Amino acid sequence: MAQTDWLPARLRATRALTPDIRLLEIEPSVRGAPAPPGSHLGVAVMIGERPDTRSYSLLDSGADGLYRIAVKRLAHSRGGSAYMHGLEAGARLSISGPRNHFGLTLGKPGYLLVAGGIGITPLHAMALALHQAGAPFRLLYAARTRQDLALADALQARIGDRLETFTDEDHRRIDMTAAIAGLAPGAEAYVCGPFGMMEAARRVWAETGRPAQGLRFETFGTGGRHATEAFTVRIPRLSKEIVVPRNQTMLEALEAAGVGMIHDCRRGECGLCTVTILAADGTVDHRDVFFSEAQKATNAQLCTCVSRVVGGGITIDTADRAG
Ligand code: FES
Repeated sequence: MAQTDWLPARLRATRALTPDIRLLEIEPSVRGAPAPPGSHLGVAVMIGERPDTRSYSLLDSGADGLYRIAVKRLAHSRGGSAYMHGLEAGARLSISGPRNHFGLTLGKPGYLLVAGGIGITPLHAMALALHQAGAPFRLLYAARTRQDLALADALQARIGDRLETFTDEDHRRIDMTAAIAGLAPGAEAYVCGPFGMMEAARRVWAETGRPAQGLRFETFGTGGRHATEAFTVRIPRLSKEIVVPRNQTMLEALEAAGVGMIHDCRRGECGLCTVTILAADGTVDHRDVFFSEAQKATNAQLCTCVSRVVGGGITIDTADRAG
C-alpha cells in the first residue's frame, strides 16, 4: 500500500438516496481543511475476513467538518459496497485523505460536466464549486431510470437549470457531439461514468481538435472494452504463476500471492500500481485513465487495480516494486 495516514472517524449518519445508493456522512476525529472538488476519501473495509481499502469521491468540500460520500451497492461487488451498505450510524471507521487525482481548474471560459450513474459523485462537488465561483457550466447527468438519479433533486435546488438529466426511461440520451461543440474555446470537460461514456467523450473531443488536457476523466474501473474473465499472470523473476479470478482485480490477486505492490486510488487514476508487460498472449483491456491512448496502444505497462486480460494470459515484471 502507498504510504497512508489513517485517521479514526465515525459514521455520523446514513440514508438511502435510491434503493441501491446510500449517502454516508463521516465525521473525522480531527477536522481537516476543506477538500478541493474531485477529491476522494480512502475507507478501510473488511471483505470477508480480509482488510482492504476502497476510495469514494466526496460530494462536497466538507467545509462543515463532515465528509459525505454516496456508495452504490453493486450486484457483482467484490465486497466493498456491501460492507459500506451494512454500516450503521455510529460505526467506527478508519479513513485516509482526502486526496485528489481529478482536480478542477478554475478560471476557464466554460465547463461541461458529464456524469453517468454513480459517476455523479465527484461532479456533484465540482458543480457546487463552479456554481459558487459563478463560472459558466452545464452538468449533464445520465442514468438508467429516473429513480436512479440520486442527488438530482438536491442538485437542482442548488444549481437550477444548469443540471440536465437523461434517462433510458425517458428515452433521452446525452448528445456528446452537441455538448462539446457548444463549449467555448479553452473550455474544459470533466467526465465520470461508464467506459462507453468516457470513450464517446474522448472520441468527440479528439475529433473537434480540442487540446487533450482539456478533457478530464474519472473512472470506477468496473468496466472495459471486454467482458470480465479470469486470466493468468506469470512473473518469471519471482517464479510465480497466478490466476486472477473473475471477481478479483489483478492487484488483489498479486497481493494475495505475496507480490509486493504499491497503490493508492485503486481506480486507475494515480498510476502507482502499474507493472511492466513482458508478453501478452491475450488482449490487454486497459481500463484506467492514467495512461494516454498512445501509451495503452504500446502495451508496455498496465494498471493492475483495474485493467485485465481476456483471451489468454500475461507475463509481467514487478522489478520496480517492492517484491
Ligand atoms: S492504484 Fe491508482 S492506478 Fe492503480
